[in-house]
Parts: sequence; structure tokens; C-alpha cells
Amino acid sequence: MQARSDSNVELRKALGQFATGVTVVTTRAADGSPVGLTVNSFTSVSLDPPLLLWCLGRSSMNFDVFRLAEQQLINVLAADQIDVAQRFATRGAERFAGVPWNPTDTGLPRLDGCAAWIECGVRSRYEEGDHLILVCRIESFEVLRGKPLIFHDSRYVTELTETPLPRGLRSPLG
Ligand SMILES: Cc1cc2nc3c(=O)[nH]c(=O)nc-3n(C[C@H](O)[C@H](O)[C@H](O)COP(=O)(O)O)c2cc1C
Repeated sequence: MQARSDSNVELRKALGQFATGVTVVTTRAADGSPVGLTVNSFTSVSLDPPLLLWCLGRSSMNFDVFRLAEQQLINVLAADQIDVAQRFATRGAERFAGVPWNPTDTGLPRLDGCAAWIECGVRSRYEEGDHLILVCRIESFEVLRGKPLIFHDSRYVTELTETPLPRGLRSPLG
């Protein structure tokens, strides 16, 4: 096994072993039109203050819109939203056509049927490699407790199996 590979394919394979959820990050362009893209680089950063981050690829057609947008919405996709994940990852697609959504009080596009929504304000931006890291402060959120959509090894996974802790082990989270 290689500890390090110069092959992007192999590197993607290695990174893809880390399973994530799937989100669609949305905002409004300067002309008011809704914009969004599928993102799995989302992660929580801090509870106090409540912070999250996600990474935006430089090659995104919406790079400047998200780089400049002060307010953004993380739509955490549910297991039955694979079509939404694909639509918001497809260049040239009419991403908001046919996907039910409503504006939040602040006008951000909120997709119907998600597992959770997190509204946030951008706090800092870091350029690293071919991505921009956006660190955002959570301003409001809603948990719908639906089954989440999972992304692993370049594939979508819709079934989570909860496994009890082996006898004698205690949860580190209490
Ligand atoms: C499951 C999945 C996760 C993705 N995660 C990210 C991500 O974290 N950051 C990112 O910039 N693009 C991510 N993408 C790619 C974007 O969704 C989109 O395809 C890409 O930005 C091209 O579209 P655009 O130019 O309109 O933004 C992901 C795509 C998929 C299918």
C-alpha cells in the first residue's frame, strides 16, 4: 500500500473513504437570483461560538457569488434527495427548477424536504490550494430529523445501521 500517491485518482479514493453527509449551500447573487451547489466539505468547527466551515472550489462558476455572499444557508440533504444532490452538482442545469424551495425571512433559498437547515453569516475566508475555506457563524437552524444522505467512496448511501457499543465500552460523548 502506498503511503503517498501522486495520482489524483488514488488520492480521491483515499479521501473518499471518509464518509460525509451531503449538503446544498445556497445564497443570492447580486441580482437576487438564487444560487446553490452540492457540497460535502461541510463540517462543524465550534459550539461556542457556533461555527461551521465548507470549502468552495476555485473552478466553480459561482465562485465569486459565494466568495462575496455574507449570508449563506446550508441545506442538509435527506436520504431521498439524491436527485437534488445531482442537480446542484450539474453545470448548466436549471438547479432551482423543479426543486421545491422557499425563501427564509432573510431571503435565502431553503430547499424543501431536507434533514436540517443552518443559516449562517460568513466570518472569515482562507484561500488554500484550489479551494476557498469559508468559516461561518451559525445564526439560526432547524432540525427535521429525517434520514440523512451519505456520500462515501464517490457513491451515495441511504441506509444507516445503528450499532450498539460492544459490551464494556462507554461512549466518549456521555
Ligand atoms: C457529493 C458532492 C460533493 C461536492 N462537494 C463539493 C464541495 O465541497 N465544494 C465544492 O466546491 N464543490 C463540490 N462539489 C461540486 C459542485 O457541486 C459542483 O459540481 C461544481 O461546483 C460545478 O458546478 P458550478 O461550477 O456551477 O459550481 C460536490 C459535488 C458532489 C456531487
